[in-house]
Amino acid sequence: MRDVAQWGLYKSFIQRELKEAIPNYREGYSSLELDAGFFRPDSILARDFSVLFAAMQFNDTKQEKVFRWLDLMAGCGIRALRWGLDAVLPISEQKRGLKNLEIWINDADLDRSNLIQRNLQPLSKKGIKLTFKNDFAEVLLARAYIDKCFFNLIDLDCFGSPNSLLQPVLRVLAFDGILMLSSTDGRSTTGHDRLAALRSLAAAARTHPASWEIALRLQLAAVARQAWLLGRGVEPLACFSDGRTFRVFVRFKRHLFHGEENQLGLIARCEICGEQSSQPLLNLKGWKDCSCGIGLARWEISGPLWLGPLQSPPTLSKIQELSNRFSVPIVGRSEKLIDRLRADEGIPVFSWSTHDIASRVPLEAPPSLDLMIKLLNAEGYLAFRSGVVPGHFRTNASLGELLRICEKKLVKGFK
Ligand SMILES: C[S@@+](CC[C@H](N)C(=O)[O-])C[C@H]1O[C@@H](n2cnc3c(N)ncnc32)[C@H](O)[C@@H]1O
Repeated sequence: MRDVAQWGLYKSFIQRELKEAIPNYREGYSSLELDAGFFRPDSILARDFSVLFAAMQFNDTKQEKVFRWLDLMAGCGIRALRWGLDAVLPISEQKRGLKNLEIWINDADLDRSNLIQRNLQPLSKKGIKLTFKNDFAEVLLARAYIDKCFFNLIDLDCFGSPNSLLQPVLRVLAFDGILMLSSTDGRSTTGHDRLAALRSLAAAARTHPASWEIALRLQLAAVARQAWLLGRGVEPLACFSDGRTFRVFVRFKRHLFHGEENQLGLIARCEICGEQSSQPLLNLKGWKDCSCGIGLARWEISGPLWLGPLQSPPTLSKIQELSNRFSVPIVGRSEKLIDRLRADEGIPVFSWSTHDIASRVPLEAPPSLDLMIKLLNAEGYLAFRSGVVPGHFRTNASLGELLRICEKKLVKGFK
């Protein structure tokens, strides 16, 4: 939120949304007070993930160094509270001591500052050093940069698109630090507001059956480009969406990995036959023919976007192991989500819906995902359940192959 005029609009929006204050909301080991300001219980999955990444970071490092975590747009302060209560595992507390942890909590809304301070009291009692700020994010980040104050974990949970804050956020993120980003700007990234996508992402965003995944890839590309401007690299750790909010967890690397620039590219889909294709920007050539026939392709092209992995399965295994070993208080839905993401790294980039394929064969009813995957594996193709788009699978088989396999095995009554 860039200026005072926008801030006024936001406050009147919140006032229209006035809800009953809740005196005692519980999540993880936290119990906190909610006021009429913004709070969404169903963001619990993103909060659980942030707790697990914080726990991994604090538990992992052998060095005697200070960890500084920043909840940049804290709302009622729930993330910071959960980091201090749920992510600081007893074993890390013994090993590292709490003197090595600082948590910064910021929200520009002055009306929330008393509530935040009350909610965070358990952390002060526990001995964690807290820094409360009441600044516009832009101001806090600029001051931190001037003061050379770096954070190991930054949670940026804003309204709309976070892109104007990416560069200042990355400038104060320590190497190997983790950025946890939320965007509610689904209209631009899913192709429903193409002008807004050009403005906020400098990218073409087209509607696509896997639009949630396209949106995540566009967001990752925006992060990568800002990191690259600083000569740094990125490693996606986890990405997911509920169709309304897009969550991206990224590790900020001192250097780009070899060929990282090759991960920036375009994904095309023929609006007639549904064929998909992709190209890295580095080797951009003409597009191949689709299944419509020579010269008939009507490619709808999205990008530049991130063509690389969306998830880091080893990191997800690590947080899962941590969560199980230390009974980190996350909900069952988060556990299932970790399982799903871990099983689908996010490449190959092509995601298909069984409904779409069934309608093109045509079949009376779409095959189950398990059957589709089994058929593709039997023909030697890679195939997984998509971790990010429900009802989709990911494969390296072309559309022609998908139709051939379905025709051969399903039309003739394959059991
Ligand atoms: C989506 S809410 C945060 C919710 C919170 N992270 C949670 O999990 O419940 C966004 C918050 O950002 C604050 N905010 C909006 N624009 C801001 C800005 N430019 N700087 C700092 N805070 C801002 C709002 O007051 C609001 O509390």
